[in-house]
Amino acid sequence: MRNLKVLFAAALLVAGVQAGSAYAKQAYDPAQVDAAYSEDGRYFTEDDVPTYNVQEDGTIDWLSYSGFRRYHSECHVCHGPEGEGSSYAPALKKSALDMDYYDFIDVVTNGRKKVSASENSVMPAFGTNPNVMCYLDDMYVYLKARGTDAIARGRPRKKEKKSDVIREDENACLEN
Ligand code: HEC
Repeated sequence: MRNLKVLFAAALLVAGVQAGSAYAKQAYDPAQVDAAYSEDGRYFTEDDVPTYNVQEDGTIDWLSYSGFRRYHSECHVCHGPEGEGSSYAPALKKSALDMDYYDFIDVVTNGRKKVSASENSVMPAFGTNPNVMCYLDDMYVYLKARGTDAIARGRPRKKEKKSDVIREDENACLEN
C-alpha cells in the first residue's frame, strides 16, 4: 500500500513536469526566436530582430555570451540572476519573449515607473550609460535564450569568436 502511494506520487510528479515543459514550449512562437540568417557573427529572425543561436555542439553566439556578462554586471541586482526575476523586479527571461523587441529597448533606454500609494516600482533609465546602451542586443538575445531555455543557467562554456564587425561597432559605440 505504501509503495502504491509512492508510485502514485511519482506519477503525478512526472505528469506535472511534462505539463510544465509542454507549456514552456508553447509559450512563444518559433518565428520569434529562430535565427533565419546571420550577418558578421550576429543572428536575426525573419523579421530582422536580433536573436541567439546555439549550435549542435552547444557553442553559443558571441552576443549571447557577452549578454550573459553584461546582464550580470548591470541588471541582475534587481532582476535576479540569469533573468529569473526577484521580489522587486520582473523575470526578464519572460519579458524578452513577451515584449516586442522595440518596447524592450525603449524601457531600458527611457526607464519606467509605477509609483502609487501601494506600489513603488522603478526601472531606471539607462539611456546615457554606454555600458548598457552599447550592449542592448547582447542582453536581449541572452535573455531570450534563457526564456526558451536554449541556454542553461550558469556561465556558458563554448562560444563563437567575436567578429571584427562586432568589435568595430562596439568600439565606435563606446567612443560616443
Ligand atoms: C534598480 C533596479 C533595476 C535595475 C538595476 C534594472 N531594472 Fe529593469 N526594472 C526594474 C523594475 C522595478 C521594473 C518594473 C517597472 C514597472 O513596474 O514598470 C523593471 C522593468 C524592466 C523591464 C520591463 C519588463 C516587463 O516585463 O515589463 C525591462 C525590459 C527591464 N527592466 C530591463 C532591464 C535591463 C536590461 C537592465 C540592465 C541593463 C535593468 N532592467 C536593470 C528595476 C531595475
